[in-house]
Amino acid sequence: MKREEGFKPKITVIVPTYNEAKLIEKKLDDIYAQEYPRDRLEVILIDSASSDGTLEIAEKWKEEHGEINLKIIEEDSRRGKAHSLNEALKHSTGEVVVITDADSFCGTRDSLRRAAEWFSDPSVGAVSCLKDPEGSEAPSIELGYRGYYNVLRVAESKAYSTPIFHGELASFRKDLLEEAEGFPVDIGSDDSHTATKIAAMGYRAIMPEDVLCKELVPKRGYNSWKIRRAQHLVQHFMKAMKLKVKAPKNFDRILKVEEYLHLVNPWILLGGAVLLSASAIMGSLISLIFLALGIALLMYKPYRTWISMQLYLVIAAIKNLWSREIVWEKQEK
Ligand code: GDD
Ligand code: MN
Repeated sequence: MKREEGFKPKITVIVPTYNEAKLIEKKLDDIYAQEYPRDRLEVILIDSASSDGTLEIAEKWKEEHGEINLKIIEEDSRRGKAHSLNEALKHSTGEVVVITDADSFCGTRDSLRRAAEWFSDPSVGAVSCLKDPEGSEAPSIELGYRGYYNVLRVAESKAYSTPIFHGELASFRKDLLEEAEGFPVDIGSDDSHTATKIAAMGYRAIMPEDVLCKELVPKRGYNSWKIRRAQHLVQHFMKAMKLKVKAPKNFDRILKVEEYLHLVNPWILLGGAVLLSASAIMGSLISLIFLALGIALLMYKPYRTWISMQLYLVIAAIKNLWSREIVWEKQEK
């Protein structure tokens, strides 16, 4: 890919908020600190009827920072993040639209600029960020995930495109967003699904190595947070199976592997564990040895991380049967 330094398309940064009073000021400051020409930058904050004073804080911030172009949109009820993004899209004038969650921060002051520069290549349709593992006090298991998945995401990007995007910074060519009919409101993973759609349309959806963001991890309820996100990924890959892929074969392969890893593989692990236990109970020594080995390996962190991800995905698939979590409970970060 060709990346032209100094390429500065007009950007619309959209920040969706629901009860982000604790973080919104810091978030706006973080965008403000980005090195990007002010006349090429528009910020839209869209709030879905927060009850904790998010809007008041944002309004006050806007008054104090007249030199940055900030629009604040107020929705009268909460219908989910994707619904808000679609609403904000109608007000966006940038060539590139960047979605960024209120509980995330750019890794460096040039994250926006670096992401934007990739759009100088006409084959690039969407750009996301890597999660900076050092940028937070995340539990060690979370750091394990990030290191591991960052490598996968970069590799997929280099091969063609990655079907997983991050809400900390998910940027899209605006005309392609329109062609893709905006963000899907029936599933939770708006960012990944839209990126996948754009990749299926034949454009690259990439996570470059040098665009970094930090995400805050909930203080309490880590497991339910992981399960909800796994639910969203399961929804995304189920829906992605119905996509018509016009992209090069490379992407079809990446997508099939990720569909397999998210939808099938976790069940094989579970099935294997059940069968091994049953046959160990029935007296098979070899099964008992394998089972013991599987348990002993839990001491090894990468393996433990992988096992827990599989369990989250199994629970997520089951939970999706009755609750899709399109509008989710706010967790304290
Ligand atoms: N306007 C609006 N309306 N914003 C919302 C709503 C809503 O109904 N619900 C959540 N948000 C905002 C939050 O205020 C935050 O800025 C962002 O959307 C993400 O919400 P979090 O509560 O931080 O969700 P998360 O970090 O666990 O979710 C992550 O995974 C999702 C997919 O599973 C994020 O990366 C999301 O962007 C992603 O869609
Ligand atoms: Mn978040």
